[in-house]
Amino acid sequence: MRNKITIIGAGNVGATAAHWAASRGLGDIVLLDVVEGVPQGKALDLLQAGPVDGFAGRITGSNDYADSAGSDVVIITAGLARKPGMSRDDLLAKNVAIVRTCAENAARHSPEAVLIVVTNPIDAMVYTAFKVSGFPKNRVVGMAGVLDSARYRTFLAEALGVAPRDVNAMVMGIHGDNMLPLVRLANVAGIPVSDLLDQEKLDAIVKRTQHGGAEIVNHLKTGSAFYTPGLAAVEMAEAILTDSKRVLPCAAYVEGEFGFSGCFLGVPVVLGAGGVERIVEFALTAEEKKALAESETAVRRQMAATGL
Ligand code: NAI
Ligand code: 2OP
Repeated sequence: MRNKITIIGAGNVGATAAHWAASRGLGDIVLLDVVEGVPQGKALDLLQAGPVDGFAGRITGSNDYADSAGSDVVIITAGLARKPGMSRDDLLAKNVAIVRTCAENAARHSPEAVLIVVTNPIDAMVYTAFKVSGFPKNRVVGMAGVLDSARYRTFLAEALGVAPRDVNAMVMGIHGDNMLPLVRLANVAGIPVSDLLDQEKLDAIVKRTQHGGAEIVNHLKTGSAFYTPGLAAVEMAEAILTDSKRVLPCAAYVEGEFGFSGCFLGVPVVLGAGGVERIVEFALTAEEKKALAESETAVRRQMAATGL
């Protein structure tokens, strides 16, 4: 039997995630939205790419959660996107209400699914989904670290003139200005980037990564990034559906790891059939720990604002 993936929110990120998921042959896809016609039209359009691209799964557009029943993975992208001058926090109140509905319905119709939350502000939205779904912590995970790390890797690769895939680098912490692009561990085929780039250049890359979302919002003016966010969510879904034990930075519920408890924080996790199978803990320097603590403070402020 094929895997079933539901993507809630058929907007830019959701439809793009559906595109990547179909192209990677992840399984049958349900694209779900509140707006009538949009998920149906986009799903039909994408389905018709099958003969050309070579995928064969079912792609259904719907406004009814009954069609999502029995999904293995549910990706929540429903919500409002950032506009210029709008912080991720501004989105919070409206998106809590939306994510609450999505997570409750997803949990009711797909009680064994892993929820991947994308809606911003992500660190609060993944907490919202966790609270309202009643799912165990391993089956609720937020997407941000894969995207932020992809941006970080892209900027490092550009500066070094090397293939992006050969750059290994990770961003931890919140999906916001306090995020922590780790310089100490960033490397190109094992060679530390700090041996290859001067401090000034590295500082500029870290800063650009921290503001990577806003940079795109400022270009687009009417929305935010979606190609890489959609792919990042699908990368996580694929790791879960194929039980591949990928180690990816994700917003996961911490209980003592890195010295933090009771919140979702961007940390490296092993993703497999069980969802977040474990958090990979390692020793941080005092400076890195301080930066992660700043992320945690910002996450807790967002969590409090959800009222949950
Ligand atoms: P979009 O506006 O293109 O799409 C949002 C979709 O959600 C719309 O089609 C809308 O009709 C739908 N929607 C609204 N309420 C709904 C509900 N109750 N049930 C089902 N569908 C509903 O926005 P876009 O660009 O796709 O972004 C979606 C979210 O993802 C935003 O909150 C954005 O900030 C966030 N995002 C998060 C990223 C991350 O790294 N975690 C990266 C990029 C975007
Ligand atoms: C991003 O980083 C808007 O959070 C979204 O692109």
